[in-house]
Amino acid sequence: MQEKGKYFIKNYDLAHMSSYSNYPQSLLDSMRVKGLIGSGGNEIRDPDINISAFALDPGTHYAAHAHPFPEVYIFLGGVAECEWDDEKFVAEAGTVTHCPPNVSHAMRVISSESLRSIIISWAPKGDRSVWKTPSVLLSNSH
Ligand SMILES: [Fe+2]
Repeated sequence: MQEKGKYFIKNYDLAHMSSYSNYPQSLLDSMRVKGLIGSGGNEIRDPDINISAFALDPGTHYAAHAHPFPEVYIFLGGVAECEWDDEKFVAEAGTVTHCPPNVSHAMRVISSESLRSIIISWAPKGDRSVWKTPSVLLSNSH
């Protein structure tokens, strides 16, 4: 493998979260995340933005959830059926979506490969209070 220089993110290893909000273990087991830019725990510290690499295993249903921070998904691979509020669409590599604050969003991975994306969320107009409330699953239909 090529030696990486100083301008690379050193650790790009996605990992399971041991717990998060009201997410069930089955969902945590099918989800991997790596924080790239954000507050503590990220390689690049910035309290106004969070940029993460994200992966969901094939077949995963990430049930409807919502959070106060707005969010952009940049889909890199895999295919998912998505439902953002009342709008249904299919996301694949190249799809870029915006989810405004507190809008319900859900996805189901329908490809045989994992869904991969970059997730960008931020503190709108510098309002860092949006980070106080995590994403919350809205139902138990996972
Ligand atoms: Fe989200």
